[in-house]
Amino acid sequence: MRTNEKKSLSLQYIYDTVIKEDPKLVWVRDRIQAADWPIHIAPEEGRLLQLLIRLGGIKKIVEVGTHAGYSTMWMAMALPTEGHVFTIERDKNRISMARETFLHFEEHTSKITLLEGKALDILGSLEKEGPFDMVFIDADKLNYINYLNWAEKNVRSGGLIIGDNTFLSGAVYGKPSTERISPSALEAVNAFNKRLGNPSMYCGVMLPTKEGWTMGVKL
Ligand SMILES: C[S@@+](CC[C@H](N)C(=O)[O-])C[C@H]1O[C@@H](n2cnc3c(N)ncnc32)[C@H](O)[C@@H]1O
Repeated sequence: MRTNEKKSLSLQYIYDTVIKEDPKLVWVRDRIQAADWPIHIAPEEGRLLQLLIRLGGIKKIVEVGTHAGYSTMWMAMALPTEGHVFTIERDKNRISMARETFLHFEEHTSKITLLEGKALDILGSLEKEGPFDMVFIDADKLNYINYLNWAEKNVRSGGLIIGDNTFLSGAVYGKPSTERISPSALEAVNAFNKRLGNPSMYCGVMLPTKEGWTMGVKL
């Protein structure tokens, strides 16, 4: 979701009635809006993450792509006290923003470990913390299939793997885009979606959110 987008009446209704965002999360969004790349999950996606965490008794999460920690906080807030989210970010400015975010949620800060660097360099050393209950992928599209390969090995059976932005600005279904989408990114995201749609490996679903959201429970 890009923060400046106008809300539809139906979304506004949802925000007014069912998803009342914590004021501190609104503060995080406002800071992202003022940043160089104003992008983060939508509040309804944050709530969906929380619902899945509670439903699945999820305790140990890996997130690829922290930005300022907006999605991280939605997840951390739904985790029990012994739960943990390991979140990975490579951009220095966003790492500083995320650190500031986490300090403002004192009661949840201890549930979060921010790992700095390129995800593919970090994931290997994270394996010792596994197996994980959930992996949330929201970073460079070129590596979506690599992240899925890693998640597949390090998520327990019955665990959940989620990828955001899996329409790749519509490229996966042939929509012309003003953004330049590399053929390798398109191939990676298509392979990601198809793998999660393989019924012998996952109970998968793709939700038609604005950006596309693909997830599957590992069988
Ligand atoms: C869409 S934003 C994440 C938004 C965040 N999940 C949220 O909803 O609040 C993607 C982030 O992934 C980071 N990123 C992209 N490629 C990465 C990589 N290879 N390793 C680590 N971080 C990466 C970017 O710097 C960016 O901050």
